[in-house]
Amino acid sequence: MNLLRLKRVTDKYFDDIVKLSDTLTEYQKTCVAPNMRSLAQAYVNKKRAWPRAVFLGNKPIGFVMLALWDEDIPKEDLPAYYLWRFMIANPYQQKGYGTRALDLIKEKCKNEHIRYLYTSCEMHGEQPYQFYMKYGFVDTGRNDGEQILKLKIEV
Ligand SMILES: CC(C)(COP(=O)(O)OP(=O)(O)OC[C@H]1O[C@@H](n2cnc3c(N)ncnc32)[C@H](O)[C@@H]1OP(=O)(O)O)[C@@H](O)C(=O)NCCC(=O)NCCS
Repeated sequence: MNLLRLKRVTDKYFDDIVKLSDTLTEYQKTCVAPNMRSLAQAYVNKKRAWPRAVFLGNKPIGFVMLALWDEDIPKEDLPAYYLWRFMIANPYQQKGYGTRALDLIKEKCKNEHIRYLYTSCEMHGEQPYQFYMKYGFVDTGRNDGEQILKLKIEV
């Protein structure tokens, strides 16, 4: 099985990572911002954003971006990260790579003594809600336009 890794977005792969967004279905495009927008946001939120390409061997197949803090996360769950953006290119979906990418994020959280990973997701259509539930996220019952989910990071 090819190694899955999270790598910095360099100039060499910039276009490839931007183009991954074009592979998503019209519905999926409503679930996650285009990678171009995320990379621009990372540029203007340098300290808060942690953008990484998901590589399968030498091939970029996805993109993930954490927010290293988020003001809406309840104080009792801090320290916590927020999974701000997450996508796997359509031809690589449903093969376990999303799960493996989340494992790598969880590992980072553990190493950095983070207690919770938060995220939010759309609740209409074939949403990624089930994907997050299967992974172990729980529904906080809060909805700020999107449903708020959280994952406890076991130490
Ligand atoms: C959500 C996403 C990252 C999942 O990645 P993936 O590589 O397809 O996920 P996996 O192959 O690891 O799937 C793990 C499990 O979740 C299930 N799953 C994945 N996407 C699902 C969906 N949209 N609806 C229901 N179940 C889903 C898979 O069937 C699999 O279940 P199984 O273990 O019983 O077979 C990917 O579908 C994606 O990029 N979607 C578009 C962007 C998006 O919605 N991002 C999230 C923003 S909140």
